[in-house]
Amino acid sequence: MFHAPATPRPKKRSKPAQDSFCRREEATFQDVRIFLVERKMGRSRRSFLTQLARSKGFVVEDILSDAVTHVVSEDSQSSSLWAWLKGRSLSDLSTVNVLDISWFTDSMREGRPVPVETKHLIQDILPEAPKAAPVNTVSQYACQRRTTTENNNRIFTDAFEVLAENYEFNDIEGRCLAFRRAASVLKSLPWAVRCVGATQDLPCLGEHTKAVMKEILQYGRSFEVEKILSDERCQTLKLFTSVFGVGPKTAEKWYRRGLRSFSEVLAQPGIHLNRMQQSGFLHYGDISRAVSKAEARAVGNIIDEAVHVITPNAILALTGGFRRGKDFGHDVDFILTTTELGKEENLLISIIESLKKQGLLLFSDYQASTFDISKLPSHRFEAMDHFAKCFLILRLEGSLVEGGLQRAQGDGREWRAVRVDLVSPPVDRYAYTMLGWTGSRMFERDLRRFARLERQMLLDNHALYDKTKNEFLTATTEKDIFDHLGLEYIEPWQRNA
Ligand code: UTP
Ligand code: MG
Repeated sequence: MFHAPATPRPKKRSKPAQDSFCRREEATFQDVRIFLVERKMGRSRRSFLTQLARSKGFVVEDILSDAVTHVVSEDSQSSSLWAWLKGRSLSDLSTVNVLDISWFTDSMREGRPVPVETKHLIQDILPEAPKAAPVNTVSQYACQRRTTTENNNRIFTDAFEVLAENYEFNDIEGRCLAFRRAASVLKSLPWAVRCVGATQDLPCLGEHTKAVMKEILQYGRSFEVEKILSDERCQTLKLFTSVFGVGPKTAEKWYRRGLRSFSEVLAQPGIHLNRMQQSGFLHYGDISRAVSKAEARAVGNIIDEAVHVITPNAILALTGGFRRGKDFGHDVDFILTTTELGKEENLLISIIESLKKQGLLLFSDYQASTFDISKLPSHRFEAMDHFAKCFLILRLEGSLVEGGLQRAQGDGREWRAVRVDLVSPPVDRYAYTMLGWTGSRMFERDLRRFARLERQMLLDNHALYDKTKNEFLTATTEKDIFDHLGLEYIEPWQRNA
């Protein structure tokens, strides 16, 4: 027989059996809770495997309850296993991974829970919910997925973004990331999810995300999301952070002072706005309006002309969202360097001067390079790079834009303000900078996570370091970096993770 619990199954995940709870406190992998099925495995082998896993920091539950995330069986008869599982009346079997022993042995060998792959799954022969579309194995890493700008699951990903942002405002990083990861997985699907059962093989979708999806599928909306959207604090923080130069900390500070609108902020005595925030308010209407591809091209032409007057050896390349094929962006990002190593140092200063002389510079914040070639790549995912860079607001004349400007209704001006970022690495770091600035943020985050966890390498916008060989790896193209990492090359337009 299968090993069945002698005591009634606890209803809630928050109330697991007392003894396994104590062990879970000491365990390393708290999110994975294994249950080993005794049939075929036998009692003594089950007991041995339980001890082995616990000694390696895994949580192994003695009884099958809603707390279990991974059911492992040596029984290849999937029909009898699934019939037994369904008889346990767990609240949602679709959230449990039902796995072959190979997942367990792989995890023991690696000393950590390995990602669940299709080969590990013991599939239900008669699944309760029919699949909407065949699911190929989807990697847990965004850098192993191809994600175009076509999002077939926007109803879910928009909702997840609201939830993620709300967690961000409340400084709950883990949950924020969990929703962004889930959104990223759904964005990569070439099909629309029509039932939660169809997501069974997908990584990064937890109980909470699936519950939100179920609600959206059933009612066309998520009540949790609606509650957040109508919440005054959330609305105010979103409004304040939409100003160039205002981050979540400043927004929170203003909210705590009782401020709820821009006019209240601007009228409040004692509020000091830095230069960036002043420009943010001054040009708010323009820079909160999306920049079109045609406008991005026109900005590129202006910078290209200016830079080639300064040096014939300049290299100017569009990066960021527009390089990924987006039709609209919140800014335009460029990499600017020169073929002569070391000469890039003064390039940004010269271009800022030139734009100023032409009367095109509405704001500029220049940050000199602090790049140190001997430094190892950063462990932090969102660390700023050390190359010289500038954050600009430029005046763009409508006559330079094919098809005209993106204009607000009733705006009769012949120009608009556009946010532009320029980064200037030494030419031998060009490929790393291009890879880092092309984004998306989730793609970058997972490239670095993949490098560290799967390859024992450190990657950032400056370099790639192999920890097993103790050496930096050189690259002249992005493809070289993918090759070093043993990853299939993903085109920029497939990096919209
Ligand atoms: P953006 O914030 O411009 O995002 O950063 P985006 O993808 O172009 O999207 P929109 O349309 O403007 O909103 C572009 C990339 O540059 C990296 C970010 O990680 C992102 O992937 N970046 C940005 C850096 O690496 N360092 C920085 O200092 C700034
Ligand atoms: Mg951008």
